Amino acid sequence: MKQKIMSGMRPTGKLHLGHYLGVIDNWVKLQDEYDCYFSVADWHALTTKYDKTETLRQDTIDVVMDWLACGIDPDKSTIYVQSLVPETAELHIYLSMITPQNWVERDPTLKDMAKILKTKEGMGTQVNYGLMGYPVLMTADILTFNADLVPVGIDQVAHVELTRDIARRFNNIYNTDFFVEPQPKLNNCSLICGLDGNKMGKSFNNDIKISDTEEITAKKVMTAITDRSRMRKDDPGHPDECEVAFKYWKIFGTENEVETVRCECEKGLRGCADCKRQLGKKINERMSDIRERRKYYEEHPEEVEKIIREGSEKARKDAQKILAEVRKLVRMY
Ligand code: TRP
Ligand code: SF4
Repeated sequence: MKQKIMSGMRPTGKLHLGHYLGVIDNWVKLQDEYDCYFSVADWHALTTKYDKTETLRQDTIDVVMDWLACGIDPDKSTIYVQSLVPETAELHIYLSMITPQNWVERDPTLKDMAKILKTKEGMGTQVNYGLMGYPVLMTADILTFNADLVPVGIDQVAHVELTRDIARRFNNIYNTDFFVEPQPKLNNCSLICGLDGNKMGKSFNNDIKISDTEEITAKKVMTAITDRSRMRKDDPGHPDECEVAFKYWKIFGTENEVETVRCECEKGLRGCADCKRQLGKKINERMSDIRERRKYYEEHPEEVEKIIREGSEKARKDAQKILAEVRKLVRMY
């Protein structure tokens, strides 16, 4: 039997190259070797955005479209929407009963979130009960399928550790070895920064979307930060101090191309505008098949809907088997 993998993403809407290179491309490569479950975590979105649900449905669809475009294959992997698998909510209840309060209180991500919330104004500035339970909800996601491995970024490793702790505690309390203690599987992140040199993110307005057109991509790339000390195009440049453009070259160019860019830049034979024009073309080349596939799904929303429904039904059947066992172990009626 294949080992099981479970991972998820919040429905933040159209995804960017950071998601593609840092997360989805890793998932795509795992699909043959493992039995994969990929969840759009719409309940997780509610932990902070319970009062902004107007776009939740479309954001969920956009995430799935991006996954499909990038090569997540519904014939290999189970793609589902978290709230369409209510078994996860039931499991969340059982797990919440056995999770000591101080285990969630020491969660570092939660502390950060609480801090950010406090800096905002109006609604949603306090930490709600549901937000406190967010690491337990993520635990429920993982244990709903008794996954062996959880591909995550470094910021989520603490949550998988908590999942292991909760799984162990459940096993102890109910005198069983039913739950696997899952391992985090670090995404090998060729982390791409935003066009301004900060972390790429939707809210920073520094991202290139998977679904951006070639024209928009080309335009955005022209805004990428370069070697700030360079005034004229025949000044010798410093690729290693070229904050964004040269880093992108290293991700999207071949080794030869990167060396050519380096040489020409250092000798003052390459202007930054030309350099970025070429870079834009490289990025567009790399993304072209993906974008074509995305366009296909945009034109066939009924297929996406079908994939979501069928994936979620399949996930639900698998979850029901786990929950039947859990109910027995807890000795529910
Ligand atoms: N908590 C993750 C995040 O905010 C998303 C997530 C939800 C997840 N459920 C998961 C990740 C289960 C891995 C496994 O990024
Ligand atoms: Fe960066 Fe290219 Fe300009 Fe050199 S020529 S500083 S690599 S953008």
